[in-house]
Amino acid sequence: MATKTIEDIEVKGKRVLVRVDFNVPVQNGMISDDSRIVAALPTINYLREQGAKIILCSHLGRPKGQKNPEFTLAPVANDLAQKLGAPVTFVDDCVGESVKMQVEAMKDGDVVLLENVRFYAGEEKNDPEFAKQLAAVAEVYVNDAFGTAHRAHASTEGVTKFLSPSVCGYLIQAELKFLGEKTAQPERPFVVILGGAKVSDKIQVIDALLEKANKILIGGAMAYTFKLAQGGKVGNSLAEPDKIETAKKALEKAKAKGVEFLLPVDNLVCDALDFKGGTLGNTKVVDGDIEDGWEGVDIGPKTVELYANAVKDAKTVLWNGPMGIFEIPESAKGSFAIAKAVAEADNTSIIGGGDSVKAIKKSGYGDQVTFMSTGGGASLEFLEGKELPGVVALDQK
Ligand code: 3PG
Repeated sequence: MATKTIEDIEVKGKRVLVRVDFNVPVQNGMISDDSRIVAALPTINYLREQGAKIILCSHLGRPKGQKNPEFTLAPVANDLAQKLGAPVTFVDDCVGESVKMQVEAMKDGDVVLLENVRFYAGEEKNDPEFAKQLAAVAEVYVNDAFGTAHRAHASTEGVTKFLSPSVCGYLIQAELKFLGEKTAQPERPFVVILGGAKVSDKIQVIDALLEKANKILIGGAMAYTFKLAQGGKVGNSLAEPDKIETAKKALEKAKAKGVEFLLPVDNLVCDALDFKGGTLGNTKVVDGDIEDGWEGVDIGPKTVELYANAVKDAKTVLWNGPMGIFEIPESAKGSFAIAKAVAEADNTSIIGGGDSVKAIKKSGYGDQVTFMSTGGGASLEFLEGKELPGVVALDQK
């Protein structure tokens, strides 16, 4: 089954409620990363061209059901207007009379952005009454908020009970294609690079991808738990000794499935990590075991070469999770080298959201990959094979 999209329905002259994920970082009214706004443009532009009346809604941050100016979407309205080259009317509420009045005044192609839906407790509770109020001003529902599709909230799931048709926009369509179809039936070899701090955060993703991948390359602190599982020593590295059995099971499953499971052969280690201060103390690259008093903070050059070669030979690459502490320049080298290898390889490259997107953008290679997911938690849940409530609630073809 495939989810219906905006191209499957008639929107001309219709009032369309569009749930976007404009949960962007805002400091002193300035947006420091506008990727999610940019990612919503294709859907908004299409609806404008088709002559729909576009009523955008989103959350920003976690205001816990209270009106709080710190979490207003007003700066996003200005930024979006500039990007569209058209006015965006900001309404300082998301339900009620003020919204009704603004929507009644809309002409075809107009864009309105409603205030943060999480200013009402009914949003996260998925309260049917609140969903009904949100839906009241519209005739059609479009969900394009992939980053929030793992939440069954009023604006992502509840509204679909009151609006028909309910379809997805271009962003959700693209996310489903790249994180879903392209990894479910990948062109092979399919190489997966997984990093991040904890095995416990990624074990379900590892388990799901062991069913599909030809090779899995592990980096980040997660690798140290796997090293312990193989009987190695990790010194003071961040590891989860209580997850050794879990790691062992994953290694056994990889063997049984014939999936090549690669762990770092060398690491950058340091003797005094100060994450906030951005310093590492003394550093060195070590092969194999890590001595006490030293902490692994990145993959080493031999591992980079090994992983880069695997990426080069792949037809499909999926990368989720950094290889080391990329926030500190000295321990960003591994992640940036992998970013370069992924970007330069002639294959389908998919960056699975969260910190790996931050790392590849910071490396300067972000524009050269096939697809970068806008999801954090949503991407992980989707890669784990879970159904996303914000997607399953939409009309299916
Ligand atoms: C995100 O940033 O991952 C999404 O916007 C969802 O936000 P939430 O974790 O606060 O629900």
